[in-house]
Amino acid sequence: MDFQPTPEHNLIREAARKFAEQELAPGLAERDRAHQSDSESLKKMARSSFLGVSLPAKYGGTDSDYISLGIVCEEFERVDTSFRVVMSVHSGLHCLTLLQWGTAEQKQRLLAPLAKGEKIGAFALTEPNAGSDAINIRTRAENRGSEYVLNGQKSWISLSDYADQFLVIAQLDGNDRSEKKHVALIVDRNMQGFSSRPIKGKLGVRAGNTGEIFFDDVRVPVENRIGDEGDGFKVAMSALDHGRYTVAAGSVGISAACLQACVKYANERTVGGEPIGKKQLVQQMIANMSAACDIGRLLYFQVGWMKNAGLRHTREVSLAKWQNCNMAFQSAHDAIEIHGAYGYCDEFPVERHFRNSRGAMIYEGTREIHTLVQAEYALGYRQDRPLKRTLPKWPFGDDA
Ligand code: CAA
Repeated sequence: MDFQPTPEHNLIREAARKFAEQELAPGLAERDRAHQSDSESLKKMARSSFLGVSLPAKYGGTDSDYISLGIVCEEFERVDTSFRVVMSVHSGLHCLTLLQWGTAEQKQRLLAPLAKGEKIGAFALTEPNAGSDAINIRTRAENRGSEYVLNGQKSWISLSDYADQFLVIAQLDGNDRSEKKHVALIVDRNMQGFSSRPIKGKLGVRAGNTGEIFFDDVRVPVENRIGDEGDGFKVAMSALDHGRYTVAAGSVGISAACLQACVKYANERTVGGEPIGKKQLVQQMIANMSAACDIGRLLYFQVGWMKNAGLRHTREVSLAKWQNCNMAFQSAHDAIEIHGAYGYCDEFPVERHFRNSRGAMIYEGTREIHTLVQAEYALGYRQDRPLKRTLPKWPFGDDA
């Protein structure tokens, strides 16, 4: 067992931190206040190769390992959740799923432009009436031989207005509903019958784009089907293995940002002639934030290591996502407490981290779903069997 980050990990952390602070942070607080997303940060990430992190060089990716993706997520979320969401949706849910399930032809045709940042990918599973109950989605795909005809609606889709293509999970039409056969399709924004609409008034991630997407007789060529007919739910669940990893890693960034802000504030703010950092109740909260960073990193590094080794990690990633999101929320909650009234307004970033951290306890599996899943593993009701298609091991071989 080796807990030492490699020189490459240190380099990518340094590069991601510098990029996030210098290129992404300017103007962020104002955009968050105005509920305004923009495409500029996507272009900057593309230009700096961040959209190809942890993808093989043969598709134009950086060839870095899967832990590197987690590190980038942590550093981006230290600045703001909206930037990590781009990595979650494009790199985690979309690109890694294509890498896992795509045929050689699909990887060349669909993955290469994404890895180079020429295109942006997103993921569409959730619907107005199916969130946790993902198996009972209602979007329907009818097989007409050379194409599928897609009808339905997806909700709470990150990058709905910016992504060029979506990994869409649908029920296969014509099946007995009790069979619940699903299909996964890549839908291009330019396909006739596709439309999107932003969702307004979110509590957090206000600088990020979230919305609904609609399919009205969208004709999707059969070449865009990911996996076999009937594999759609498995494709969705493996996408969540990747997405939850990025959320778990990003949540550490919130705890780290809160710790940094609180250490500074607790050393500057005085009460009764001494810094509040000397007060034991403040120390308790700082100690918890510090622990959240270290425990959170261990949890997501373990998952990254399992990805590198080509091991199934559904249980471990659920645990990391569940715990890290809870700890990030607690860190942000305590950070407001330490900042007192200043923490309650947007003069300090902790108020934004608090709002942002709440969302991650809902998306990519609610706190309740992960609690139940972990209990089921512990009780022996659930176990991870070998997968039909696995993510390629790192270092990437010719078969990646
Ligand atoms: N990889 C591959 N296959 C998997 C898998 C994985 N990680 N997990 C399960 N499967 C397979 C299983 O092997 C099983 O196949 P077999 O029948 O052949 O064995 C099949 O999929 C069904 O699996 P389960 O029995 O585990 O399914 P379940 O019905 O018990 O799952 C659940 C229940 C865990 C609650 C699941 O529905 C779930 O995770 N729900 C939450 C959904 C969610 O997180 N939604 C968020 C969407 S993304 C988002 O938030 C928006 C965004 O834009 C970011």
